[in-house]
Amino acid sequence: MQDRLEKLRRKALEELNKAKDSMFLRDLEIKYLGRKGELTQVLRKIKDLSEKEKPVIGKLANEIKKDLESAVSETKRVLERTSEEKTRLTKLDVTWPGEKIKLGHLHPLTQFQRKVEDIFISMGFEIVEGPEVETEKYNFDLLNIPKDHPSRDLWDTFYLEKGLVLRTHTSPMQLRAMEKRKPPVRLIVPGRVYRHEATDASHEAMFYQYEGLAIDKCISVANLLGTLKSFFQALYGPQVKIRSSGSFFPFTEPSLEISMSCLICQGEGCPVCKQSGWLEMLGAGMVHPTVLKNMKIDPEIYSGFAFGGGLDRLMMLYYGINDIRLSYKGDLRFLEQF
Ligand code: PHE
Repeated sequence: MQDRLEKLRRKALEELNKAKDSMFLRDLEIKYLGRKGELTQVLRKIKDLSEKEKPVIGKLANEIKKDLESAVSETKRVLERTSEEKTRLTKLDVTWPGEKIKLGHLHPLTQFQRKVEDIFISMGFEIVEGPEVETEKYNFDLLNIPKDHPSRDLWDTFYLEKGLVLRTHTSPMQLRAMEKRKPPVRLIVPGRVYRHEATDASHEAMFYQYEGLAIDKCISVANLLGTLKSFFQALYGPQVKIRSSGSFFPFTEPSLEISMSCLICQGEGCPVCKQSGWLEMLGAGMVHPTVLKNMKIDPEIYSGFAFGGGLDRLMMLYYGINDIRLSYKGDLRFLEQF
């Protein structure tokens, strides 16, 4: 009798282990634990056993019953869980809202650069771009900044090997562009430039400039000022005034510093313009005769103006951003506002 019971237990557990679905499990439950089940049959026969066997077999049979019952409920739980999983994976509820795919967009600086380009294009300028790794020849020499001349110190330069530098300004493109063009030309060169300097809210070691160049017969300072005034007014509004003062750049003569009336206080004086009413916007001037000659252009026949300023600064003023570093952090809280 004891043997029979042990065998029954083994067989039953083995079959339960193999149960793959709940129907099969129910059949097994009935087969062993049901009213006419194998174990129930045994339990019924206990009353006919001798007084000595009764407690031993009875105890064992009850133990087996409990074992089987808990095996059944455990298997039930496992099967339920896998079938839930299956439904979750295979069931398609077409009424459920779709998962939103996050769409990216152009970086605010790229968007802004295009806005600037559009204004200049509307004034007849052509957009050109050039290399960020430059030769010293283009970054300095051809721009009338000789080796060992103190004017080279105007730019804190990242020097690379073999006479290469990270361009400190977009001005080298003036010369590169003129290798393939003849005047009259009007060019805008937007792009990254690099300076070896400590970063703070208004300085970055890498930032964006936009360079302007116009060469034709009879180009004058008036053309330069008119162009820049139109540009700033197109960007910031018709109330904007510009002002020029003397400056120095080796590649322009005369050289000018261009300021714009403060957008915050309209020239009254405020903390943003340091109470001056004016914001320094860019360096500019008439293309130096030596530079024209380096472009193989006769300075007796042609003249030109050039200017170069920070695109980041333009954008910061446009949107009221107070820290240039925000543009380069890749922080979505910032980027998603544009
Ligand atoms: N390249 C100058 C700078 O980065 C700006 C400039 C450009 C000045 C063109 C005059 C003419 O400081």
